[in-house]
Amino acid sequence: MVRKLSISKPPSRRAPAYGANLLGKGRVCRDVTRAAPSVRLVSMTDAERDAALEQEAAEYAEAKARAGIWTRDEALNRSREEIRSLVGTRPADRGHEFFIGVDEAGRRVGWLWLGPVPSSDASPDTRWLFQIVVDAPRRGQGFGRGLLRAAEEHLRAAGRSELALNVFRWNTVAVALYTSSGYEIAFQDDKALEMRKRLRPA
Ligand SMILES: CC(C)(COP(=O)(O)OP(=O)(O)OC[C@H]1O[C@@H](n2cnc3c(N)ncnc32)[C@H](O)[C@@H]1OP(=O)(O)O)[C@@H](O)C(=O)NCCC(=O)NCCS
Repeated sequence: MVRKLSISKPPSRRAPAYGANLLGKGRVCRDVTRAAPSVRLVSMTDAERDAALEQEAAEYAEAKARAGIWTRDEALNRSREEIRSLVGTRPADRGHEFFIGVDEAGRRVGWLWLGPVPSSDASPDTRWLFQIVVDAPRRGQGFGRGLLRAAEEHLRAAGRSELALNVFRWNTVAVALYTSSGYEIAFQDDKALEMRKRLRPA
C-alpha cells in the first residue's frame, strides 16, 4: 500500500476528484454489504509489531522502487527511515495500532496497521489505513474484505467517522477491494489514489 507518510503519502498533485469514478461512469460497485468471512482483530505484541514493520519496510521499498519513485539502491534505507520517523520508538503513543486478523477458528489470516492521518490539517475523527495484508496462502478467499470490515468496525466503536488510505494504481486487487467496499477517490495522480470512506455509526 502507499501510505500517507508515504507509506501512504497522498498523491502530490491533487485533482479535484472527490468521489470520482475510477473505473468509468457507472462501473464502481457500491455494494458494501458483500459477504466476507468473519475476521477478529487481536492486538500485536511489540515483537510482532516490529516484525511487521520490518516486513513493511521491505515491501514499501519495493513498491516505491517499482513505481519509479526511489532507486532500488536507496529504497530500503529510505523506507526504514520513513517508518521510524512516523511511528517513533513507542508507536502506540503516537496513536498507531497494529492488529493480527484471525478467522473463526482462531487462525491467522493477515495483519493491519491503523493510525492518525499524517497531515497536520486532518480531522482527528479520520484514521489512516497504513497497511492491510492477507497472508499469501489465504488470499482470494474474502479475508481481505473481512479484515477491512473488522478495521471499520473497530474504528466505529472508537467513535471515528472516516477511514482513508493511499493505494498504488498498479495494485488492482486492492483498488478493487476498496472500491467495492465503498471507498471513493479523494485525490489521485498518475501513480496512486487516495481513497476515503465515511464510517456510519453501526
Ligand atoms: C489486497 C489484499 C489485502 C486483498 O485480500 P484478499 O483476501 O486477497 O481479497 P479478498 O479475497 O477479500 O477479495 C476482495 C476483493 O479483491 C478483489 N480481488 C481479490 N483477488 C483478486 C484477484 N486475484 N484478481 C482481481 N481482483 C481480486 C476482488 O474485487 C475481491 O472482491 P470479490 O471477491 O467480491 O470480487 C491482498 O491481496 C494482499 O494482502 N495484498 C498484498 C498487500 C497489499 O497490497 N495490501 C493493500 C495495500 S493498499
